[in-house]
Amino acid sequence: MCGIIGRVGTGDAIDTLLTGLENLEYRGYDSAGVAVQNGAGIKVQKRSGKVSELKNKIDASVLEGQVGIGHTRWSTHGPPTDANAHPHTDSTTDVAVVHNGIIENYIELKEQLAAAGHEFTSDTDTEVIPHLVQHYLDQGWDSERAFRTAIDELQGSYAVAVMISGEHVIYAARRGSPLVIGMEDNEFFLASDIPAFLEETNDVIYLEDGDVVVLEPEGYRITDLEGTPVSRETDTVDWDPEDAGKGEYDHYMRKEIHSQPTSLANTIEGRVADGEVDLEEFPAGAFADVDAVQFVACGTSYHAAMYGEWLLREANVRTAVHRASEYDSSVGPIDEHTLVVAVTQSGETADTLAAVREAKARGARTVAVTNVVGSTAAREADDALYIRAGPEIGVAATKTFSSQSVTLALLTQRIAADIPDAAPIDDLDAMLESLSDLPDQVESVVETSRAGELAERYLESRAFFFIGRGLGHAVALEGALKFKEITYEHAEGFTAGELKHGPLALVTEETPVFSVFTGGGDEAVQTNATEAQSRGAPIVTVAPDDHQAVGTGDAHLSIPDTHPVWAGLLANVQLQLLSYHAANELGRPIDKPRNLAKSVTVE
Ligand code: F6R
Repeated sequence: MCGIIGRVGTGDAIDTLLTGLENLEYRGYDSAGVAVQNGAGIKVQKRSGKVSELKNKIDASVLEGQVGIGHTRWSTHGPPTDANAHPHTDSTTDVAVVHNGIIENYIELKEQLAAAGHEFTSDTDTEVIPHLVQHYLDQGWDSERAFRTAIDELQGSYAVAVMISGEHVIYAARRGSPLVIGMEDNEFFLASDIPAFLEETNDVIYLEDGDVVVLEPEGYRITDLEGTPVSRETDTVDWDPEDAGKGEYDHYMRKEIHSQPTSLANTIEGRVADGEVDLEEFPAGAFADVDAVQFVACGTSYHAAMYGEWLLREANVRTAVHRASEYDSSVGPIDEHTLVVAVTQSGETADTLAAVREAKARGARTVAVTNVVGSTAAREADDALYIRAGPEIGVAATKTFSSQSVTLALLTQRIAADIPDAAPIDDLDAMLESLSDLPDQVESVVETSRAGELAERYLESRAFFFIGRGLGHAVALEGALKFKEITYEHAEGFTAGELKHGPLALVTEETPVFSVFTGGGDEAVQTNATEAQSRGAPIVTVAPDDHQAVGTGDAHLSIPDTHPVWAGLLANVQLQLLSYHAANELGRPIDKPRNLAKSVTVE
């Protein structure tokens, strides 16, 4: 939660800061603010609301300066008011700070500083940082020493960037929250995530926990907290700057749904050879020691993890899928022969990271299946397998779900091939052959979908239900999550057979039931859909046109014929479009649904 950006260089910083904040808004959009050095001290402008509101109100004439920091907030301590917006300053505005994370000992620090005469104006934990730095500057210490000492006193998690009046420098540090440096000729950036500066540079350095950075127009220094230099490699990311913008689309979500043919092609590329799964990260035998596999994840990633778990069970591997937030109480017996697969788009979800740490502490081997290179999950897990979906900005996960599911399908077959008594799916050849058609089939769904029409037809409904079996159950849950998340309407997903054990009481002519047919257990889904239909519910079949259930439903969303393992992913694209169109009709802020943020870095 929260996005931070910093920039040093020549020319004014303000435009770069605002663009960066717009590209980071997926991390939070309760309030936004910037601070720049303009030769006459630090100038701060901040307000509650989205970056666009800040941009409209900003007085650019007073925000001239080559060094600046900015912030977009997802509130943790204190409501989204102007006063609680970042940057925060000390009482004299000599020190300005932006922060992502939670300072756990802020009450104690605040009391000490208040006793020493510091006055606070916000409810935030962050505000103690500028006062603490100022406290040490007041002792006559140089800025770097004051910054390091202040940082050393913080408990909790932070990515923090600090400006001190009169200095063309940004001081920054990370522990537990992401921070990357971007490098361009005579210009350096700091940000929570790469899209913030992707329009300026592709050359990045991923900082690690404990790193302290001093960023100047001439260059940067990275040290540990004690000041000992540390060396970090430079990476060049192959993301296109266009990935960070909306392009021709009104919303990132629409763009990201439509970009799935490309993202899926990237996910698959080079990972299938001679009718077999070929993962360069895991050559044959890499999992020979494994005797059980657990998946841990949250939200949409959990639904993709269900995909993985289902496929491994089919392959006769002992497996379970856990909600990461429940992992410490649900983990069960594990040891060094247990592989724990953490599925996380951002690689920064606090619940998932806590599960990875728990699994490691119990001796298990860990793999992060993630989209973000250099993310905390990728660095902390024993191995990382990237889903290669490219940056996803819309808060609702779309293209990353399909790329996660495909990556997990490939990983599970690789694992099954190594474990004695397990075996990849019988028709692996056919499954992999169909996979090569998947990007084109997604394209045809996107181009021909009637989801917009159905969204309009059922818009006045009281609730929206989604049912499926097996892999279709994961898709039903994902369809319902997407729908409630961006439309704010009541939506629930169920295993089809479970409807009659309670939820059927909710079914009326005002509750359309979207029934997902994947080619596995379809007769039962059809029976359960008919039971709902007999109670008046309109049934929407999500299935190939020639499926026997189609004629029995009230409406239909079409998917191409494919292998049963991939059918659910095509159905899911229809459900993504359904949610998108319903939310659009309702005028919802599709890319930034209320109360949510894309990376949930608090437990
Ligand atoms: C829903 C959504 C969330 C995330 C969840 C996990 O559209 O995006 O449910 O899937 O917060 O996030 P990651 O995958 O980053 O760990």
